Amino acid sequence: MSYSTKNLKVVLLIVFFSLINSTYSQQTEKPKEERLAWFKDAKLGVFIHWGIYAVNGIDESWSFFNNYISYQDYMKQLHGFTAKNYNPTQWANLIKESGAKYTVLTTKHHDGVALWNSKYGTLNTVKATPAKRDVLTPFVKAARKNNLKVGLYYSLLDWSHPDYPNFTRDKKRYTNDDTRWNSFTKFNFGQLTELTKYNPDLYWFDGDWEQSAQKWKAKEIRSLLLRKNPNTILNSRLQGYGDYATPEQGVPIVKPSDKFWELCMTMNKSWGFQPNDKEYKSINQIIRIFVDCISMGGNLLLDIGPKPDGTIPKEQVAILKGLGRWTKKHKEAIYGTRAGIPKEHFNGYTALSKDKTILYLYVDNKPNGPLLIKGLKNKVNRIWVVGNGTKLSHKVIGKHYWSSVPGLLYIDLPEKVQDKDVTVIAVLLKGKIDLYREKVKAIESN
Ligand code: GLC
Repeated sequence: MSYSTKNLKVVLLIVFFSLINSTYSQQTEKPKEERLAWFKDAKLGVFIHWGIYAVNGIDESWSFFNNYISYQDYMKQLHGFTAKNYNPTQWANLIKESGAKYTVLTTKHHDGVALWNSKYGTLNTVKATPAKRDVLTPFVKAARKNNLKVGLYYSLLDWSHPDYPNFTRDKKRYTNDDTRWNSFTKFNFGQLTELTKYNPDLYWFDGDWEQSAQKWKAKEIRSLLLRKNPNTILNSRLQGYGDYATPEQGVPIVKPSDKFWELCMTMNKSWGFQPNDKEYKSINQIIRIFVDCISMGGNLLLDIGPKPDGTIPKEQVAILKGLGRWTKKHKEAIYGTRAGIPKEHFNGYTALSKDKTILYLYVDNKPNGPLLIKGLKNKVNRIWVVGNGTKLSHKVIGKHYWSSVPGLLYIDLPEKVQDKDVTVIAVLLKGKIDLYREKVKAIESN
């Protein structure tokens, strides 16, 4: 065998093995569509920010990072975290009642206080607060009992850890120190491995912005978690290694291009319990924001901030219950739906059933005449009010036999069938939705 044939053989072998290797690692991960199927259908989740910041009722972690309070004073809040009226079953029941299909709890915020009995460090609710208990485990149990998917929020950065480089906005512990950084990474991997024991359906990372993917070992984190549970899903805050996008507070104006996304939003203006913050959104506003997300194919992750004793503020309970009234009545037009049709066809929010044969219209204002759908090519089989069943009459106006432009479809919506928040109309189509999107010609034939 000549030297060059031998060389070629070696090259071919290398190519062969690296191909096998790459297909193998791709195969070890289940396709995103499969893992995120429940998430895509879930639509509503409840986020819970519970931590020592509720004691003074101040900004979670950021209040010391931004120097609004000294670190020492911030940490004094540990002594006020009692969890003495904590009732995880009640929490889970309320979350269920809101219509949420999943819930995400802050297991550790940027201040480093863990809600479980971590053997990494002593900064947790068992060892460092009068609660003296692991408050995470019973919540996971109660949530699962209610058939809720469980998400664990975990802050990658930890401003309390002695080996984490950043401490406050203007104070760093160090800039370059591989030994200390490695010790911190070990700590993070240790805590994450502990969290895998809860077998969460979702990991909700936060704080990734302070370090690169390489420094966090984001790729290794992803493979660790997916190895432990091949069905789990990760939010996007993992420097490019997550599964779905997480816009925050602002409802997207333009439909996000991401296939999977979730808007996380507070009920007032704070993530944690802040009794001074009375700027609550109304139930009606929250329902309309929720519908806005649904119409763009996304989820809403609505936040609550329990008190240090574990009770949920009454304003937040009222919102969850109010939302529950609406979601219960309209479930068929919420769960499993897909993004709606372009605004040119209906002046309002819309969504489609998964099989695209039902168009849902969300009417969030009192109409002063019949509703109008333009450019719908399908024949309409039936129209009814969701959660009420009333059949609605409709008629097509302005359809010319010689033109392919569909007529204007008018739907009567009597006042007595309208919902006090958002009325939902189901339009059952003959076949999958088919919209006229072409330019309208002057004349086709006459
Ligand atoms: C932000 C903040 C954090 C909050 C989170 C929720 O990233 O750092 O305080 O918990 O958003 O989405």
